[in-house]
Amino acid sequence: MINRIFRRKKEETPLTDLLDMNNIPRHVAIIMDGNGRWAKRKGMPRAYGHHAGANTLKRVVIAAGELGIKVLTVYAFSTENWKRPVDEVSYIMKLMEEYLGTNLLELNEHNVKLHFIGDLSRLQPNLQQEFREAEADMADNTGLILNVAVNYGGRLELTQAMRRLAEDVESGRMTASDIDVDAVSKYLYTNPENDVDLLIRPGADKRVSNFLLWQMAYAEFWFTDICWPDFTKDTLVDAILSFQGRERRFGGLK
Ligand code: FPP
Repeated sequence: MINRIFRRKKEETPLTDLLDMNNIPRHVAIIMDGNGRWAKRKGMPRAYGHHAGANTLKRVVIAAGELGIKVLTVYAFSTENWKRPVDEVSYIMKLMEEYLGTNLLELNEHNVKLHFIGDLSRLQPNLQQEFREAEADMADNTGLILNVAVNYGGRLELTQAMRRLAEDVESGRMTASDIDVDAVSKYLYTNPENDVDLLIRPGADKRVSNFLLWQMAYAEFWFTDICWPDFTKDTLVDAILSFQGRERRFGGLK
């Protein structure tokens, strides 16, 4: 009997009550994968999955802020995604523009500070302009920092960082012996919030896909078969609960 009551109470406990609010990962990164497969399973075109994925993003951003996550970096479009059919690429670009139009006010009300990372110079000038304006509108917000990675690649980010470092050495602003881990970190898009604590990848694949290669040096990884459009606040809580069960040693001993 007691066991039954206990089990019932456990089942009724909201997942968030199980969290240790003193051990919430500061920086969470998400590879928003599985949109296409999710749509296909419903007999719908891939674009339908991306549209649903954009709605999921808004819900997850709000949930992340409520849970006390400080930085959320999401992979929206990689340097390799240009290989997709031109229609799909155009749709994702259009979706990002629409997303800003529809959701900016609400994200602003949640005190979100928006930041686009990646090589934005390859995007249409009007989209670049929309991104810059959205960033400026939210520049004074003090809540969750939302980094949206667009035309992002970890290797490209490091290559650009190296190029800028070389230029600074060439011009005499620094010397080669000034280059250390901290110096390199300053040239990254995510600076000064570089270190990722938890990487989440829905959609069943278990790989990093050129995302935040430097920043993930000591990230904990969490994978799920759930596709991104079905990802909820409870899925995020599940990932954090798993994170809280890990022992992080950062290469040291317990
Ligand atoms: C990966 O799923 C998803 C993408 C390449 C696009 C992600 C875009 C969004 C979530 C929506 C737009 C973003 C913003 C910022 C509004 P996939 O297409 O690779 O899925 P699959 O592996 O099932 O084919």
